[in-house]
Amino acid sequence: MHKDFLTIADWSSDALKHVISLAEDLKKEWQNGGNRPVLAGKTLGMIFQKPSLRTRVSFDVAMFHLGGHALMLSPQEIGLGQRESIPDVARVLASMVQGIMARVFDHAHVEQLAAWSKVPVINGLSDYSHPCQAMADVLTIKERFGRLEGLKLAYIGDGNNVATSLLFAATKFGFDFAIATPQGYALPEAVLAKGRELAQASGIRIITTESVEEAAQGAHVLYTDTWTSMGQEAEAEARRKVFKDYQINANLLKVADANSIVMHCLPAHRGEEITDEVADGAHSAIFQQAENRLHAQKAILVHLMAN
Ligand code: CP
Ligand code: NVA
Repeated sequence: MHKDFLTIADWSSDALKHVISLAEDLKKEWQNGGNRPVLAGKTLGMIFQKPSLRTRVSFDVAMFHLGGHALMLSPQEIGLGQRESIPDVARVLASMVQGIMARVFDHAHVEQLAAWSKVPVINGLSDYSHPCQAMADVLTIKERFGRLEGLKLAYIGDGNNVATSLLFAATKFGFDFAIATPQGYALPEAVLAKGRELAQASGIRIITTESVEEAAQGAHVLYTDTWTSMGQEAEAEARRKVFKDYQINANLLKVADANSIVMHCLPAHRGEEITDEVADGAHSAIFQQAENRLHAQKAILVHLMAN
C-alpha cells in the first residue's frame, strides 16, 4: 500500500476502486446517523499555499465526522520553503500529526513533503494534479450511471491539473477519455505518454483534439474547469481570448449523449467555460460532485490513516 496519495497514476486500479467503495459505504453510514469515530485522537495538518473552499471544508468536516481533528496552516503561518525548509516542516509536522494534506503550487513540493514525512501526505491540488477531485468525480459518475466502464468523459478546456487527474482516473477505472484543448494548451506530453501507457492495461480510448464537438460527440460526461488556474492570474485576459469557444453550453449538450451529465470541479466562471443555463440545468451534476468531495475525502483519510 502507498503511504501517500500524490497522484492517481501512482495507485493501482484495485486500491482506487477499494477507496471508491469505501466512500460509498461511508456516505451511507453518514446518511444513516453518522460515521464511526475511526480516526479518534488523530489530527490532520492541512497546508494551504492557495485559496480553497471545497478542499478545505471537506477535509476539515471529514476529520470531524470521523472523530478526529484538522489543523489549518496558512502560508503566513508556516511559510513552506521560505520561513522553513520543506524537509524541516515535514519532519516537525509529522512528529505531531498523523496525516498531512497539502495544496501547493509546485508538485515537487508535495513530493518533498512526502519524502520527508513519516505520516501519509495527501495532495490537495498541485499545478500538476488534483487526485482528490478526481476521486469525488468518479464517485459522482458511478452514482449517476451505476457504472464506470464503457462510459465516455469529454473534457473541454485547459490541459491542466484537473484534466491530468481525470485522464489517469479514466485509465484506472476503465472509461474513455476525450479532451478538447486549444493549440498550445494541450495536456503536457509526459502526461499523455503516461496516460497512454496506463491505458494499455485497461484498453480505454484516449482522444485528443482541438475540436470541442469532436470530443463531446456521444459523451456521457461533459467536464470543464476554469480557463485560468490559480497562479496564472496574469494570463487571464489572454486566456479569455484563446479559450472563448471552449465552453460547455446548450449547443454542445446536443452533441453529447441524451442522458449526459455536466461536471465542473468549481469554482466556476459562469459565462466563460460554462453557461448559467447548463450549470443550473437538468444535466448538471456540479453540486452533487462538490458534496462528494466530503465522502471521497473520508475514504482517502480512512484508507491512509485508520488503524
Ligand atoms: N474543486 C476544488 O478543489 O475547490 P477548492 O479550490 O475550493 O478547494
Ligand atoms: N485548475 C484549477 C482547479 C481549482 C480547483 C486550479 O488549479 O486553480
